[in-house]
Amino acid sequence: MPSDATQPARVPRHLAVIMDGNGRWAERRRRPRVIGHRAGARAVQNCVDFCIEHGIGALTLFAFSSENWGRPEEEVGALMKLFLNALEREVDELHRRGVRIRFIGQRERFGDAIRARMDAAEATTRDNTVLHLSVAASYGGRWDIVNAARSLAEDVAAGRVKPDAIDEHAFASRIALSDLPPPDLFIRTGGDTRVSNFLLWQLAYTELWFTETLWPDVDAATLRQALDDYAMRERRFGLTGAQVSASFPPPPAGTDE
Ligand code: FPP
Repeated sequence: MPSDATQPARVPRHLAVIMDGNGRWAERRRRPRVIGHRAGARAVQNCVDFCIEHGIGALTLFAFSSENWGRPEEEVGALMKLFLNALEREVDELHRRGVRIRFIGQRERFGDAIRARMDAAEATTRDNTVLHLSVAASYGGRWDIVNAARSLAEDVAAGRVKPDAIDEHAFASRIALSDLPPPDLFIRTGGDTRVSNFLLWQLAYTELWFTETLWPDVDAATLRQALDDYAMRERRFGLTGAQVSASFPPPPAGTDE
């Protein structure tokens, strides 16, 4: 992915999205919630198109949280069907367009059919470079951090890593998406202004943008608004405004910026 540390990036290299509001979109139309999720899946396609058109190299979508398993059985079942359909229908076209797909989260909680499709989608698209599309599914930011801590603890217990070699860089290398720059811009639709256990480590210096727009209504105009706002932000990474305007800061340790 292109990276130029001498100029503030005007277009985010990595966009992370909480796609909220599918249920309310359907309820406002007196339709079952699953209709909102279906409309949400169409908005995902628009968002992918937008990223490709605007040269955004990485897109990470929160599709299903660790906590979403607690939703009514009927809704979870409908979402699983939707994920399976999307995997069956969309992967070839995404591959053709150069999209690399991967899934982050507790894959073992999904059924065999979905897991097999996830594995196949990742294998088919692994060498693509136009857009890195990461789908967070059965994902939680705390789970991600605990996972990284466990993996380091195992290496310490086995004598492969010394405790004093554990620093932010070592930790970051065990966290999901460690091969990508951290998200530059986070978008949450649907009106709530929370991070809701999404990418807790990775969002440390991310610019946050919230909109009342419900996810199924998100279109290129909404996303352009987010990008315009992002382009006006001054990212200081803990430095002063004067330091930043003197020269765009080198990346602070552990942020990969
Ligand atoms: C949050 O809206 C949305 C979800 C829990 C599911 C997200 C799924 C999709 C957008 C569809 C398919 C995705 C892919 C990647 C193919 P909500 O149900 O919490 O809405 P509410 O806050 O209005 O109830």
